[in-house]
Amino acid sequence: MQILVKKGKEEDVQGGLVVKFTAAKQGEQKFVQTSFAAQILEVGIGQAAEVTAEAIREATGIAVAFTQKLSLKMSIICDGGEHHIDRGFAIAEALLLATYVYDTYKKPKTQLGDVTLLCADARQVVRIEKGVARAAERNLGITLARNLVNAPPHDIHPEQLAQTARDIAKASKGRVKAKILERVDCEKLGMGAFLAVAQGSAYAPKFIHLTYTPTKPSKSSLAIVGKGITFDSGGLSLKPSASMATMKCDMGGAAAVLGLFSVITTLAPRYTVHGIIAAAENMPSGTAYRPGDIVRSANGKTIEVLDTDAEGRMTLADALDYATKLLPTAIVDLATLTGACIVGLGEEIAGLMCNDEALAVSLLAAAERAGEKLWEMPLEKRYRALLESDVADIRQIATSRYGGSLTAGLFLQEFVGTFPWAHLDIAGPAFAERPMSSYIGKGGTGYGVRTLVEFVQAFK
Ligand code: BES
Ligand code: ZN
Ligand code: ZN
Repeated sequence: MQILVKKGKEEDVQGGLVVKFTAAKQGEQKFVQTSFAAQILEVGIGQAAEVTAEAIREATGIAVAFTQKLSLKMSIICDGGEHHIDRGFAIAEALLLATYVYDTYKKPKTQLGDVTLLCADARQVVRIEKGVARAAERNLGITLARNLVNAPPHDIHPEQLAQTARDIAKASKGRVKAKILERVDCEKLGMGAFLAVAQGSAYAPKFIHLTYTPTKPSKSSLAIVGKGITFDSGGLSLKPSASMATMKCDMGGAAAVLGLFSVITTLAPRYTVHGIIAAAENMPSGTAYRPGDIVRSANGKTIEVLDTDAEGRMTLADALDYATKLLPTAIVDLATLTGACIVGLGEEIAGLMCNDEALAVSLLAAAERAGEKLWEMPLEKRYRALLESDVADIRQIATSRYGGSLTAGLFLQEFVGTFPWAHLDIAGPAFAERPMSSYIGKGGTGYGVRTLVEFVQAFK
């Protein structure tokens, strides 16, 4: 699908379907027969004063489904009064997200043809074109993340994540460097927690460190960490089959980091950005780590392993500690960390835990602008006692099964020192078992890429 922008009105359209957004209730559809060559689909986006970018994306998704069903050519009327919304951007983003398919193993039956965005006012054409271009750029990152999550777990091992990082560096004309630490390098750095998870798999772990450097030197820097478990079987604490079925999504955090880095040169932030992924596969085997093991993480703390399925926090412990050694202004991690987060917030909302008020505010605002749902949860100090171990510095999992996302967050906090840090538990929205909206279908959603892009653009 290509998105074309033209000056014109509905009467100019020769055949196909013309989509118009109206003041009707959000999502309301009306199919109108006309006297001229095209047919019209009206989709409600609400009264002018209450129109949101999300309403436009939803309406666009509805229009795509309708057009695909009838295999029609689509034109969308882009004229709209509100100035606080970039219509071209919102429509193009929804078009690109809605028409995404993972087609490596199955070709889609129908595909949307080219879509024309029409505006009556010639001056609007340029503005809409800019929005379309920005959406197309950002979509490259989202698509990369979705493809990585959707690929079957036999296609994505730690090496493939490392190769993706190398490819990003190669395409960046020197702006992004990729450093890959092998198992022996990680041993030298004392990453006992990360390596414990990796030791059950036949596929070697890779510790990935991407660095984007701005053209002018800058004092501030960000470290973005992504959970990169290419498949989570649970390890010896094996998951039941039904829960294991979607565990290729357990590198959704890593996918978001790689998605961000694939577009970072176009964002061109004026500060350094680090992307960190401790990539491993969590498998049961004769060499797998066991409940009862006590491992030492890179920051020196010993961890009492109790459930090998709580592997994400093990890998993140060493990844977060590595991040602190880069002395960043702030650390943000994204992880498909806990089923408890899905119990609490449902499938579409990610959880945020943060030790810094300003950082939390800017991430929540970025997610809001991006159209990704994020909700703050507390790093409750009293619950820290649930992680006290008799034999090690900390227990891997709490002694209570309640508040599992919060105790996981508290565990991670042990490895970030006093750095401003935010943890996004994306276990729910990283992978959609049912459509997430009219414009994001089943499978990998690319959750996090849009929020990270907005966040990186606003960060100073
Ligand atoms: N990768 C899972 C969390 C998950 C669940 C992600 C569902 C996406 C969808 C994580 O490694 C895990 O298994 N967590 C355990 C933690 C428990 C053993 C303390 C969980 O949530 O059950
Ligand atoms: Zn697990
Ligand atoms: Zn996991």
